[in-house]
Amino acid sequence: MNMKKLILLFLCCTQFGFAQDSQEKSERMAWFEDAKLGIFVHWGYYAVNGITESWSLYHKQISYADYMEQGKEFTASNYNPEAWAKLFKEVGADYAVLTTKHHDGVALWDTNLSKLNVAEKTPAGRDLVDPFVKASRKNNLKVGLYYSLPDWSHPDYEVVFPRPDTGKNYTQKNQKTWPAWERFVSFYKNQVKELQEKYNPDLFWFDGDWEHSSEEWRTKSLKDSLLSRNPNIIVNSRLNQHGDYSTPEQGVPVVRPEGPWEFCMTMNDNWGYFPSDTNYKPTSQIIRTFAEVIGSGGNLLLNISPKPDGTIPGEQELRLKELGNWITKNKQAVHGTVAGLPYGHFYGPTTISKDHKKIYLFMLQDPKNYISLKGIQNKVKSIRVLGSGEQLDFVRNGGAAWNNIPGILRIGLPSKTSINGYITVLEVELEGELQLYRGHGNAVELN
Ligand code: GLC
Repeated sequence: MNMKKLILLFLCCTQFGFAQDSQEKSERMAWFEDAKLGIFVHWGYYAVNGITESWSLYHKQISYADYMEQGKEFTASNYNPEAWAKLFKEVGADYAVLTTKHHDGVALWDTNLSKLNVAEKTPAGRDLVDPFVKASRKNNLKVGLYYSLPDWSHPDYEVVFPRPDTGKNYTQKNQKTWPAWERFVSFYKNQVKELQEKYNPDLFWFDGDWEHSSEEWRTKSLKDSLLSRNPNIIVNSRLNQHGDYSTPEQGVPVVRPEGPWEFCMTMNDNWGYFPSDTNYKPTSQIIRTFAEVIGSGGNLLLNISPKPDGTIPGEQELRLKELGNWITKNKQAVHGTVAGLPYGHFYGPTTISKDHKKIYLFMLQDPKNYISLKGIQNKVKSIRVLGSGEQLDFVRNGGAAWNNIPGILRIGLPSKTSINGYITVLEVELEGELQLYRGHGNAVELN
């Protein structure tokens, strides 16, 4: 074979490889992109004193010894993962992500690789991950396991706060001859392997990758081994360049992120149970954020922070239920939809049905005079209010259809009884698949 043919063959193979990779990825990501809502659960020692999860160590707000003392009151005595899963499902979530180990290094399962786990160190005295996984699966929720790459308790992991030698907590081979970092990488990879072999999660939610480079973490080989054990596994972005979707946090994106993404957010200002933090977002803000996120093609991963006994704080349960009620009334606009219209067509978030024959308009304000939808080329069959079913009048105005300039749709106002206390959603049913006008406007050349 001459050089030219060889090069051609190489190009074909690599391109085929890329196409296969992206097809393989979109198949893996399918459930995730349909999910829209996930529940994040930050549960750990920090709930006992009601302090910042792990970071209170980093910022030296508490000594290492006192932080670990919290374990003595981490009881899980009212832990009811079945009730959690039922509640999450009722709210409309399709997946849940549990912190199996935060930066503090405390494992929520009975890991064989470290004694720092709730089965050994707390009155809970058992593996808390297993029942979560089982209850989630039983209630048709995909299972996500959060795992912090940094482990601020591991004797081989450098930390910025004073820490007594915790080496005795760990069983390690060749302690003396093996360099610390190699030992650590092997430890964390084995813990991840253990999690995967025990629970076979659908998603790994890694965190803290910023503390080391991709080469140091060996993220490529970690990702390969995750996929070799489960070809359908999904991994969030915090695996230094080897994640499958991005994870903006706390500040809702202003510009639509590219590719699959998930926005994680707390209900108050803390991830863990923090009773003195009463700065709860009103339900209206949570619902609005949810609408904005799904309208831009993302998922909302909404956080809850169980108490040390495993109960969900009332303020959080209430917000979950209120979000759930709203989703139930407006489910057509949420499930079975994709990211909405680009900016400029409607003042507010929108979603589009998967068959591209319906547009959902999320009205953040009560409309005045009329509702306007711009740049839709299709004929419109009907417009109705979700929840009440009320049909709305509409008229096309302006534009020049014969010149492909659609003008606006002027939609009549819903009656007061149709207005939702949070966001009223309109369903616009089109003739055929959505065709958008994205022009700058131009002269009508034929009248
Ligand atoms: C952050 C924090 C962590 C929190 C997480 C949730 O980066 O380090 O405490 O668990 O993100 O997204």
